[in-house]
Amino acid sequence: MRYKKLGKTNINVSVVGLGAWQLGGDWGPLEKDHALKLLNLAYDNGVNFFDTAPVYGFGRSEEVVGEFLNQINRDEVYIATKCGLEWDNKSRIRNNLKKERVLKEIEESLTRLKTDYVDLYQIHWPDPNTLLEETAEALQRILDDGKARYIGVSNFSAEQLEKLCKYLNVVSTQNYYNMLVRDIEKDLFPIVKKYNLTIIPYSPLAKGLLTGKITKDFEPSKDDPRAGDRIFKDKKLFLKNIKKVDKIKDISNKIGKPLSQIAINWLLYHDEVSTVIAGTKNEQHLLENINSSDWVMTKDLFEEINKLL
Ligand SMILES: NC(=O)c1ccc[n+]([C@@H]2O[C@H](COP(=O)([O-])OP(=O)(O)OC[C@H]3O[C@@H](n4cnc5c(N)ncnc54)[C@H](OP(=O)(O)O)[C@@H]3O)[C@@H](O)[C@H]2O)c1
Repeated sequence: MRYKKLGKTNINVSVVGLGAWQLGGDWGPLEKDHALKLLNLAYDNGVNFFDTAPVYGFGRSEEVVGEFLNQINRDEVYIATKCGLEWDNKSRIRNNLKKERVLKEIEESLTRLKTDYVDLYQIHWPDPNTLLEETAEALQRILDDGKARYIGVSNFSAEQLEKLCKYLNVVSTQNYYNMLVRDIEKDLFPIVKKYNLTIIPYSPLAKGLLTGKITKDFEPSKDDPRAGDRIFKDKKLFLKNIKKVDKIKDISNKIGKPLSQIAINWLLYHDEVSTVIAGTKNEQHLLENINSSDWVMTKDLFEEINKLL
């Protein structure tokens, strides 16, 4: 495994991390023992960065990560979780970044995670009904109390991110970013550079599209998290992307590297990216993703791919 500093922090994260959304059951049922097996498999192969959130499986993802933390030496891994989304007993999710709520949420996460601190505490989604200043105050308190080591954001626009950076020492931004979804390059990258932040790309494999296993006939079922995603919903865009994937498949065959590893190393080619958090319920897929760290993308390959894209 290769390691890289998480932006301006002093922690060294594995360049391949693990996204724990899948471990909460939202991507189809998953036994707790199987989830623990995946977490341990990642850990045994050098992965030290795990990304979860309260909303993943309505607490179940954090709980299983908490059990895993009890099985290992807590200080050897870095846990990133999030705040700002709450749910009711009908599973309706809403944004809430009010100070009181954020201070309560960290306590709930720490209980589920069975730890007294998280390494990275991220705002999951902006809340249009709360002033950023108010949320920043809560997050500063959490830092001062030692309940989080660093603060990050997710799904912020460039403007929102820059505003928050004026109130708080933000270290990272988690955004939808991969070879097929590149919206953040224009506006967000300059802010990342300006404030010396790092990008943690989410859905690095475009939710499976960049593994080659999804064909043009793919139709996500209603309860599949992909059903509401524009890259699957917008049929024209979907078919356009399938064509791009076919071209990258040719490169994959030519260089003898799996498509998933090309997608991960394309992201890691960017200095701004420190760790790539693909999610999976499958041990072979997990190992394939981890083995991306065995090779690096050359400038020539990066340019060849960008031309195709
Ligand atoms: N901040 C946010 O708003 C946000 C949003 C989305 C996600 N995230 C985070 O980012 C993580 C990853 O994103 P994601 O889960 O949306 O999408 P992703 O990692 O791009 O893709 C996950 C999908 O790819 C498949 N997959 C993974 N590795 C594979 C391989 N080597 N070969 C074939 N298939 C493979 C998985 O199926 P199998 O189980 O069959 O392997 C799964 O269906 C999440 O777990 C979560 O931590 C954050």
